Amino acid sequence: MKKIALVTGGTSGIGLATVEALHRRGYVVAFTSSKSVAAGEQIAGQDRESLRYLQCDVTDKEQLTAVKATLVEHYGRLDLLVNNAGYTEVVPHSNFDGATDELWMKIFTTNVMGTWWASTLFYDLLKVELGAIVNITSIAGIRPIGSSIPYSVSKAALNQMTRLLAASMENVRVNAVAPGLIDTPWTESWDQLRENVRKVAPLHRSGTPDDIAQVVVSVAEATYLTGEVIAVDGGLTLKV
Ligand SMILES: NC(=O)c1ccc[n+]([C@@H]2O[C@H](COP(=O)([O-])OP(=O)(O)OC[C@H]3O[C@@H](n4cnc5c(N)ncnc54)[C@H](OP(=O)(O)O)[C@@H]3O)[C@@H](O)[C@H]2O)c1
Repeated sequence: MKKIALVTGGTSGIGLATVEALHRRGYVVAFTSSKSVAAGEQIAGQDRESLRYLQCDVTDKEQLTAVKATLVEHYGRLDLLVNNAGYTEVVPHSNFDGATDELWMKIFTTNVMGTWWASTLFYDLLKVELGAIVNITSIAGIRPIGSSIPYSVSKAALNQMTRLLAASMENVRVNAVAPGLIDTPWTESWDQLRENVRKVAPLHRSGTPDDIAQVVVSVAEATYLTGEVIAVDGGLTLKV
């Protein structure tokens, strides 16, 4: 029987590469996004049973609950949850006024609460299948770097949530993949940073979404791995 995976934020960048890698690997993949409905439907194409797009904003628990109902109705199970949907804005760390309460709330509701709600909501399904959760965090949650202080703090929270859930969930492996700088629409205009990574990182390049998807699939299938945060950054954290 084919395994069923759910990827949040699967219409672009790292999420899309993960959807495609899991699909190639033989998973049935359901994936979500909050706004990009046309892109989602196009990616899913004709074969809705093995690649299913579902509009769902991870900041809305009711929408996540509706996704669960759809998965139960169509497949009756879930083997893998990839919490990938995330949000940030670029705010220099010394610009304290720029890190507004609204920004803190939006980043935390999306990155932290979205992951918490999805993980706890799908836990009962994952537990039955000896399933796995992979959280897409960031090296910004490991080092004092990143696009804004609220973003970095949210990713540090997710790294710790990963360990806490791994210790508390029965029969579900929980791990995090923490990317460095990856070339996606999110980082399209970050040329200066890309140049710095080329100079500093031991692998002398920014990453591709496929670089991350490859590790997500490996972590999802690593049967004795839980509670780990794996930096996938071309060695950047060795230097910063
Ligand atoms: N790119 C990097 O260098 C990098 C580095 C470290 C970590 N990351 C992490 O990797 C993840 C993906 O980033 P990316 O660079 O691939 O970004 P991206 O290309 O902008 O893709 C983001 C995806 O998430 C969806 N999304 C955003 N908000 C959502 C919400 N509230 N509910 C559901 N889906 C939502 C987007 O679709 P809609 O807009 O239609 O909702 C889109 O499908 C994020 O968690 C990010 O923090 C990225």
